[in-house]
Amino acid sequence: MKEKLNSLFNNAMEELKNIKFVDEFEQLRVKYLGKKSELTQTLRNLKNFSNEERASIGKFVNEVKGKLEKAFSEVIEKIKEEEMERKLKEEVIDITLPGKKFKVGHKNPIQLVLDEIQEIFLNMGFTIEEGPDIESEYYNFEALNIYKDHPARSEQDTFYIDEDHVLRTHTSTVQIRTMENKELPIKIISPGKVYRSDALDATHSPIFYQMEGLVIDKNINMAHLKGTLEKFIKTMFGDKIKTKFRAHHFPFTEPSAEMDVTCFVCKGNGCSVCKNSGYIEILGCGMVHPDVLERCGINSEEYRGFAFGFGIDRMVMLKYGIEDIRLLYDSDLRFLSQF
Ligand code: DAH
Repeated sequence: MKEKLNSLFNNAMEELKNIKFVDEFEQLRVKYLGKKSELTQTLRNLKNFSNEERASIGKFVNEVKGKLEKAFSEVIEKIKEEEMERKLKEEVIDITLPGKKFKVGHKNPIQLVLDEIQEIFLNMGFTIEEGPDIESEYYNFEALNIYKDHPARSEQDTFYIDEDHVLRTHTSTVQIRTMENKELPIKIISPGKVYRSDALDATHSPIFYQMEGLVIDKNINMAHLKGTLEKFIKTMFGDKIKTKFRAHHFPFTEPSAEMDVTCFVCKGNGCSVCKNSGYIEILGCGMVHPDVLERCGINSEEYRGFAFGFGIDRMVMLKYGIEDIRLLYDSDLRFLSQF
């Protein structure tokens, strides 16, 4: 019996010498120390021996088992250490390599300019209102004194959804909705997309951005309009910019004006952009027509107001020297990542 166990021990030690990997080791451990191994079986069968034999064989088996367990645990320690060293050697990390660059998204320049304009007006006490892109003819035209035969209604300019609905051609629609729904006094701006069926070219896009402004209160006059717009333009483009108001006509304001500012390109010296006048037209404005006020339920004897509206795209193009409006809508990352 003892001889058998001794040779089992020697065999185990011999086999153990050649083990290099964890899974090989595990197979060997099961073979010599597992539940079905000869050692475990011998211990289990001790009850078949006489009392005396049981004591001495039991002791011997346990000694062999103890020695084997010790040897096995030494070997597995060594294997794991070697494995770790091998990994450390193979998986070298070169900490001198430059890091990976992550691409960060950019705001479209239209959004950048919108953010800037909004900030200026919010600082002057305006709040922001929004209106739907699909509008009834009433909000887009009639409520603003643009009647059936007005040239602005011609289908050349307007996208019709059905007989009574259009894609709004300007943000002036929000004037009406605000006057109908909000408490007086009113002091709002309303930026958003507008639509006109223009053919796409370097200076025209069927979708573009406008911003509307509206102030209604008692004792509002043209000086408030001029002061507000001059303050806006100078904050946006610098103190050196000059402004000029020209009489104009809009159906929904009386009197109406257009505001010109010093040409950004030639700084007023005259160039092809400003057709040598030194000025470029930047927005439309005026005192809200009494008929428009009354239609929205506002007493035009008691309240006055001014309104203005301008295109954002042209300001963006002038500000950044962009010559083709299509770039603003193409989503070309080579263009957008410059901002
Ligand atoms: N709605 C006009 C347009 O699209 C712009 C405009 C002009 C808005 C005068 C106004 C205004 O509020 O008073 O061309």
